[in-house]
Amino acid sequence: MGLDSGELLKLDGLSVEYRVRGGWLSAVKNVTLGVGSGEIFAVVGESGCGKSTIAHSIMRLNTDGNERVSGGIYFEGENLGDYSDRQMTAVRGKKIGMIFQNPLDSLNPVYRSGYQVAEAIYLDGKGRDEVWREVIELYRKMKMPDPAKRVRSFPHELSGGMRQRVMIAMMLARNPKLLIADEPTTALDVTIEAQILEIMNQLRADFDASILLITHNFGLVAEIADRVAVMYAGEVAEQGSVFEIFQRPRHPYTELLMKALPRRSKREGRLQTIDGTVPRLTSTEPGCRFYNRCPCAGGRCRNQDPPVRRLSDTHSYACHNR
Ligand SMILES: Nc1ncnc2c1ncn2[C@@H]1O[C@H](COP(=O)(O)OP(=O)(O)OP(=O)(O)O)[C@@H](O)[C@H]1O
Ligand SMILES: [Mg+2]
Repeated sequence: MGLDSGELLKLDGLSVEYRVRGGWLSAVKNVTLGVGSGEIFAVVGESGCGKSTIAHSIMRLNTDGNERVSGGIYFEGENLGDYSDRQMTAVRGKKIGMIFQNPLDSLNPVYRSGYQVAEAIYLDGKGRDEVWREVIELYRKMKMPDPAKRVRSFPHELSGGMRQRVMIAMMLARNPKLLIADEPTTALDVTIEAQILEIMNQLRADFDASILLITHNFGLVAEIADRVAVMYAGEVAEQGSVFEIFQRPRHPYTELLMKALPRRSKREGRLQTIDGTVPRLTSTEPGCRFYNRCPCAGGRCRNQDPPVRRLSDTHSYACHNR
């Protein structure tokens, strides 16, 4: 299958398994979704539901020989599965950027922060002064306090929020089409989180980039995403525009999540735990993975995969009983 019109990234039945003792763990199962140009698409779900696995598969970062990936990953209409490792390195460097949860791990401690951003620009063969001006300008766009001074700071001299800004600046220096942000704000306090969000929100206008935002935080989704996929145990339970998901959730899991959302402060809208435990993902038997926690589960939910039902072009959910 190719690409729907206007979609920059398309996952078509993506499944990922990890080799574990005694077999394979199905971390991501049959995930289909598309991220449009200039869009912020959120993937939301509890810890362990497969969010990072999706991100790593797109970037082909999970390649130590202990994983099996199937299904299509299309970017700009091309199947990244057909790309050589060398081609993928080029995609990672230029076209798709990734922001990791802990920016200190991704910055080199022995180089000044601005130098690390400059490296990305140097590749284009520009002069030193021009590059340095561009870096300071990028810091300014990231709302970095005192940018001319901060380009000279080492990573350990920067706060968590500042490091996250450096990370984003590094990505943007390469002008990526798609930015994958895996839990970009969980390590930050609320004020800094708000600023980072605002920056991300401006990005698509300034840089015309799409963002795949991975998060636990439904409040965050409500604030900045256009579309959202709700994942449960490696599968997409429901997806739709943010409006559709918040106003008319249909999957029992999404419904429970919505009810559990605190009303007062949207930013405190982290996923609440609900009763029951996630099933062992090593089982390959069919059936709904939400079965044992679902208030409306029936007989066939236990041993038949739920059908995907469509409510609109964007809104769909997988359930036998709704
Ligand atoms: N390299 C690996 N080998 C074996 N199992 C793995 C590996 N990486 C992840 N898993 C398992 O795959 C499942 C999905 O993990 P993943 O990290 O994608 O979840 P996540 O949604 O990103 O969770 P979190 O919110 O905690 O970051 C989990 O059960 C996890 O234990
Ligand atoms: Mg993760």
